[in-house]
Amino acid sequence: MNSTPSRISFHDFKPDTGSFCEDVLNGLAQPQKELPPKYFYDPRGCELFEAICELPEYYLTRTETAMMQRLAPEMARCLGEGCVLVEYGSGNSRKTRILLEALRPPVYMPIDIAGDQLRATAAELGQVFPRLEVVAVCADYTRSLSFPEWKSGDVRRTVVYFPGSTIGNLTQAEALAFLRNTVSLVGDGGAMLVGVDLKKDRKVLDAAYDDARGVTAEFNLNLLRRINRELGADFDPARFRHRAFYSEEWSRIEMHLVSVGAQRVSVAGRRFDFRDGETIHTENSCKYSVAEFRELARQAGFRSAQTWTDADHLFSVHYLECLRVSP
Ligand SMILES: C[S@@+](CC[C@H](N)C(=O)[O-])C[C@H]1O[C@@H](n2cnc3c(N)ncnc32)[C@H](O)[C@@H]1O
Repeated sequence: MNSTPSRISFHDFKPDTGSFCEDVLNGLAQPQKELPPKYFYDPRGCELFEAICELPEYYLTRTETAMMQRLAPEMARCLGEGCVLVEYGSGNSRKTRILLEALRPPVYMPIDIAGDQLRATAAELGQVFPRLEVVAVCADYTRSLSFPEWKSGDVRRTVVYFPGSTIGNLTQAEALAFLRNTVSLVGDGGAMLVGVDLKKDRKVLDAAYDDARGVTAEFNLNLLRRINRELGADFDPARFRHRAFYSEEWSRIEMHLVSVGAQRVSVAGRRFDFRDGETIHTENSCKYSVAEFRELARQAGFRSAQTWTDADHLFSVHYLECLRVSP
């Protein structure tokens, strides 16, 4: 894989096509049709997400990256020496490199459902950080997961890194359950560093998820192409359009695919009827105030030890410490 292969391992627990099919059939059978956002990330979806990160409207990546560049040394001091840095939804690990540079942990464990990108990223990181042990895990982090073993002995604590406001893809109830699960995974003395997008003017939010060039629309529609290819479906992407809007009621951006005209679609031998204008709900992106997210973390069993925001108050990064006491 690279010049120091023994320091890189790859563990494949990727959901199989059967689970993908089951999730899609189940989602399309709901009264409000829905599809889980984790399936956006086939190789084309990963490419489109990278293009989204470069868009002028998509302030999230730019803002969080600038925060990491400014604050990584301070964050590294909070995290301390000798941690296993576990990252959920690591993607291309670009922001993580800034943290790895400042933190120099013995072990980095990126966890992502997108196997090809994960494998390539792990190999690159092995070149850039030859002393780092990279334990790459291809898995769905919303399912029960136990961390594979690592070889390095000089480890003092486990820290979960969850940037990109990917936690916003979970509903608030799901996020609470997810944070509780993270508390048990990191255990006593463990911690979490999590990037959370903040509530703001809805025009800024709407534009970030419905850009002028239509890249986010393409990202959303790519899910139908993936289902066609992998599950033998016959969606006509030209007969669906992208819709994204901020819901004040739920404090979240919702992304939908809207049926243009009445139509019938077949997926893995099952038929689904769409009324004109009926939607498939494909993604949530929940927004929080700093106080709301701290409260959620507290309910999950974390102590909010430090929060950083950018000067324009667009984005926040929370350092949370585990309060759990051993029985
Ligand atoms: C919004 S992107 C963020 C990528 C990167 N962390 C960043 O901040 O730019 C979400 C990432 O999480 C991964 N992902 C989404 N849902 C997942 C799941 N349920 N299990 C594992 N990975 C998931 C995707 O493949 C993608 O790489």
